[in-house]
Amino acid sequence: MGSIVNEKPASGLSDRLGRPLRDLRISVTDRCNFRCPYCMPAEIFGEKYAFLPRQDILTFEELERLVRLFVGFGVEKIRITGGEPLLRHGLEELIGRLAALSPDLDLAITTNGSLLPRYVEGLARAGLRRITVSLDSLDPATFLRMSGERFSVDRVLEGIAAAEAAGFRRLKINCVVQRGVNDDGLVDLARRFHGTGHIVRFIEFMDVGTRNQWSMDEVVTGAEIVERIGAALPLEPIDPNYSGEVAARWRYVDGGGEIGVITSVSQPFCGTCTRARLTTEGSLVTCLFATGGVDLRTALRDGSSDDVLRERIASTWTRRRDRYSEERQELLQIEGAAERRRERVEMYQVGG
Ligand code: GTP
Ligand code: 5AD
Ligand code: SF4
Ligand code: SF4
Repeated sequence: MGSIVNEKPASGLSDRLGRPLRDLRISVTDRCNFRCPYCMPAEIFGEKYAFLPRQDILTFEELERLVRLFVGFGVEKIRITGGEPLLRHGLEELIGRLAALSPDLDLAITTNGSLLPRYVEGLARAGLRRITVSLDSLDPATFLRMSGERFSVDRVLEGIAAAEAAGFRRLKINCVVQRGVNDDGLVDLARRFHGTGHIVRFIEFMDVGTRNQWSMDEVVTGAEIVERIGAALPLEPIDPNYSGEVAARWRYVDGGGEIGVITSVSQPFCGTCTRARLTTEGSLVTCLFATGGVDLRTALRDGSSDDVLRERIASTWTRRRDRYSEERQELLQIEGAAERRRERVEMYQVGG
């Protein structure tokens, strides 16, 4: 995909910092069958937790309509997330509808992998292009702890195998790295996927949402990750696939493929951020760390025309000046930082 940041397409939108709108990440459900403590801790998301009622969630028709409008503004990549997107009933129908909108659309999904054995073939048939699977550890006990004790790591590995069997030869495997929690298993993860064609991406633990007790002490920087993996499996840097790519790429010197490092904390990449996010309820969010969004659902449901929706999308993007990760250091120092954090949109609502 050749998106060139700062080059404004004819029909495209540019924000206040000159960043075009290229990607849309859509959370299709706020539910998840995992309870990762850094995202949906089990003590908060228990039996009685009230997830969104069905009528509050955008329908496939509504999503298709919005995606058509976003594509009109130059969006090239749609990533379906959640919660766990495969919990959304009939997801392959949505994929089919979106795939039919434009032959060039890069349609991807980020999933915890547990339901891939059941659904991946249908998703492939419907036109899904790429899959990212979250997998924080291969160690059975660490995996259980990091995913909320409900599923074994084997279940995710079965999901990966099912995706391979359905023809997905180049998966991305996302690992959120937390010091003292799973950082002793980084080399194991790298080794497991070395030579397979899949790309493990190590993500610096972020202060996203309001639920995790984030502290800088738990962040292992991308530089340290590369150093530790490189000591076992020598690495060299390679150029990004496209300007604005989130992960920095490193390849194994022995030809065993590549890894990615996502350094949102130590080396933020807001300057090239072309991502908009749509929450499960239809709110348009312009930063992963936003405290709110712009409601699109009301206009979708009150008979408003496409022009009204277009205007709302355009005015939201053209006013955008978010660059949270670049401002983090200052913002964490200011008075009321903790209170502000409590107002943030959650990761499972906004889709990571
Ligand atoms: P590709 O399309 O394959 O390049 O994937 P991607 O890196 O855009 O998507 P993915 O969902 O795999 O992103 C990996 C992780 O990077 C996310 O889960 C987040 O943790 C982090 N991330 C992605 N986008 C942003 C962003 O805009 N800001 C910040 N701070 N982190 C992001
Ligand atoms: N920091 C970094 N990554 C996170 N994810 C969820 N919470 C965090 C966090 N606090 C990751 C998930 C998944 C993706 C959607 O975001 O593990 O791979
Ligand atoms: Fe579910 Fe992903 Fe959140 Fe874990 S990080 S609870 S798998 S949505
Ligand atoms: Fe984009 Fe916000 Fe992430 Fe910066 S912190 S890269 S502006 S989503």
